This record gives sequence, structure tokens and C-alpha cells, in this order.
Amino acid sequence: MKIDVIITPEYIDREYIKGKNVVVIDMLRATTVMVTAIGNGCKEVIPFLTVEEVLEKAKEIGRENCILGGERNAEKIEGFDLSNSPLEYTKEVVEGKTILITTSNGTKALTKSVGAKRIFVGCVLNGKAIAKKLAEINEDIIILNSGTNGEFTIDDFICTGYIIDEISKITNKIELTDISKTAQYIYEQNKDLEGFISKAKHYGRMKELDLMPDVEHAMKKDFTNLVPEYKDNHIIVE
Ligand code: MLT
Repeated sequence: MKIDVIITPEYIDREYIKGKNVVVIDMLRATTVMVTAIGNGCKEVIPFLTVEEVLEKAKEIGRENCILGGERNAEKIEGFDLSNSPLEYTKEVVEGKTILITTSNGTKALTKSVGAKRIFVGCVLNGKAIAKKLAEINEDIIILNSGTNGEFTIDDFICTGYIIDEISKITNKIELTDISKTAQYIYEQNKDLEGFISKAKHYGRMKELDLMPDVEHAMKKDFTNLVPEYKDNHIIVE
């Protein structure tokens, strides 16, 4: 099983991902939101690239039948129900509901991954469960970091290292590219996560907006064993 890493969706080569398993990571915060919402019993999460696409879909299925979530510049979108804070996606709010979501980077990474064999939604919360699933599948993997506005991010990269480290505890039949080895090395040196993540630009933005509880939630290892999959335009757990 070969494990490679792509540092932002801008570097996706459709031919390269074709037929491969992809794990999309946006630990701060899009994939953390999705994993949290699914863990709290939502029916499905449907990711969109643009606000207009979300509004169109809401019109199609009925505004009362869905929850609109996401962000632009890390803040709630006008007219939407929820922001991109995982802590808003509680059981009381999301249980049984369809969530339509658009974020600046995470939903871009997901929608750009279409064409891959399977697309999993990963973050620190389910990193261990993702690792177990990938080890079971035992095929080539690409860990796609969502990054921030086309730039590499420390948070997604260390989360990638965590997942690779967990896979390597289960199996030694893995071939790591140099970037995968680097991600694992960085994780090994910073297992508490926070010390290293606090150097990230997006961590600074979270701090500025008083969103440290989101960051604390996003750093919880082995919080859930759910492995959501993006399939037929929606994210669910089978
Ligand atoms: C994104 O998808 O760009 C991020 O999740 C941004 C955020 O933290 O809200």
C-alpha cells in the first residue's frame, strides 16, 4: 500500500487520483464539522463549492428540509443556519437532518476528489478509525489536505502524519513517499498537536475569532470510530 500526500486541492491531478482511495482532511474545520455532524446523527452531509449551489439545492429539496452550514473567511454565511463551528452541530440541531455545506477549502477538496475510487472524510477525531479502514482496504492511498486558500497548512499536515502513524502501527506493508514520511516525522515530534498547530496561520484566525473551543474539539484523538464516505454526491456512513 503506497501512501502519498497532496498538500492542497489545487495540486490535484485527476488522472493521478483516478482509481485510488482518497482521504480528504480539513481538521480546522470542515471535515471536523462533517464527522461531528454525522456522529450526532444527521442523515447526510452534502458538500458544495459555492453558496449559490447550496441555495439552489435548498430550493429543490425545500428549505425546511435542510440545514445550511459553512463559512466564508471562517464566518457564518448570511442567511445560513449554522457557521463552520463543529460545536454548533449538536444532536439536538442535526439529528435526522440533511446538511448542505459550503466552506472555503474543505468542500473544494471533496468536490475536486470526485473521480477517485473511494473518498473518505478524515480529521483527528476519526484518525484512528480511518487508519484502520485504510489498513483493511490495503490499497494505494492519497491523503488530500484541504489547505487554506491554495496554501499548505500545518494543521492538515500534522493530522495526515497522525493517520499515517496509526496505519504504521497496524501494518508494515506500507510504502511512504517522502512527503508522507515527513508528515509522520512531524507528527512523531509533536504528538500533543497543539504546540505545532499553534504556529499555523489558520490557528491565528481561530484565535482572533474566539474559536479556540473549536480547535480544542478538533484535536481530540480517537473521539469516534465513524468513517464517513463521500459517495453519489453525499457524505454518509454505511
Ligand atoms: C475551510 O473549509 O476552508 C475551513 O474549514 C475554514 C474554517 O475553519 O472555517
